[in-house]
Amino acid sequence: MAKERPLHGGNIYQEAQKLGVEPSELIDFSANINPLGMPPNLMSHLHRCLDMCVNYPDPDSNKLKNQLSEYIGVDKTNICVGNGALEIIYLIFDSIDVKKIVIPAPTFNEYEKAAKSSGVEVAYYERQEKAGFKVNFEELFDFTVHNKAGAILLCNPNNPTSTLEEAGELVSLVAKCSEREIKVIIDEAFIELTKMPKENSVASLVKDFDNLYVIRAFTKIFAIPGLRLGYCVSSQGNIARLEAKQPSWPINTLASEAGIVFESDEEYIRKTNEWINIEPNYLYKELCEFPEIKAFPPSTNFILCKLLAYGWDAERLKSKLIEDKILIRNAENFVFLDNTYFRIAVKERDSNNHILKALKKINWR
Ligand SMILES: Cc1ncc(COP(=O)(O)O)c(C=O)c1O
Repeated sequence: MAKERPLHGGNIYQEAQKLGVEPSELIDFSANINPLGMPPNLMSHLHRCLDMCVNYPDPDSNKLKNQLSEYIGVDKTNICVGNGALEIIYLIFDSIDVKKIVIPAPTFNEYEKAAKSSGVEVAYYERQEKAGFKVNFEELFDFTVHNKAGAILLCNPNNPTSTLEEAGELVSLVAKCSEREIKVIIDEAFIELTKMPKENSVASLVKDFDNLYVIRAFTKIFAIPGLRLGYCVSSQGNIARLEAKQPSWPINTLASEAGIVFESDEEYIRKTNEWINIEPNYLYKELCEFPEIKAFPPSTNFILCKLLAYGWDAERLKSKLIEDKILIRNAENFVFLDNTYFRIAVKERDSNNHILKALKKINWR
């Protein structure tokens, strides 16, 4: 029987404990977070806000919702906030009232767990490797109708394949689904880490389509997985239904202050854009030089790879790289992938070179 693998990357605590080192000594390529770290203006603002924790947060998160409303270009009644994108995913499953959902995979594992927790059956539509893991939208629609599913959940850009679907294709899908009362949920947790986030996002479409839910997060772009802040953009009615399922204080005081990131940290935004425009392609091209590895082209800050070297699997590579304090994500527990796949995050140039150097050192025979 296959060994249980962790559901997610980023478990530096467990790996560090196994190695007997401090978590900070590991270079974590298993979690896909902006390597520039938390924006400096957010860090200082949160310090200043600490004493606000003696009061309850604003239950309506008015300040944050106003900031998000301006950022996304929708009314604040089209937004609900929660403890990370993950909580929003569970909340949607809990409120959409469908029996079956179609999920293009391989994709983020947690969708299945969330579906199960709400008693929703999952039908996986396979993203074909030979098509670069891209979705064939006609096939996906037919598959959904054939399966009599009430919803589709599509991750864009997709974790772990790093594929990005065109916004135009998504608009057509949402429109076609709308005619059949099929809900479409798009997880855009990584959208701001693509080259043209505004053009790639479909969040503003919620003004036109009642069947669309867009999931977003502060987690990846602003490197704050520990603060837990995500949101959903959808029609006013859908948002009211989601909020009815939330506790009275859906997020904590510090998270409700995180909207400061939209104010004038131009240096951080410039550096992030520069990095996302250069580094994924740099690392991808370098990985393509290894005959032992097939790397799939990235649209965002992580790269899916397949081991081609005889006798190697992701767990063996992971153990080898751990010797250099490098942590990668074994991708074997993603539906439709096997133990030859692994995923690595794109980091800043020095770290990217560090993993390349470690890979070059390996005797693949
Ligand atoms: C595609 C995708 N959506 C959502 C999440 C969860 O994000 P958060 O940490 O904001 O809950 C992740 C986390 O890895 C993810 O990969």
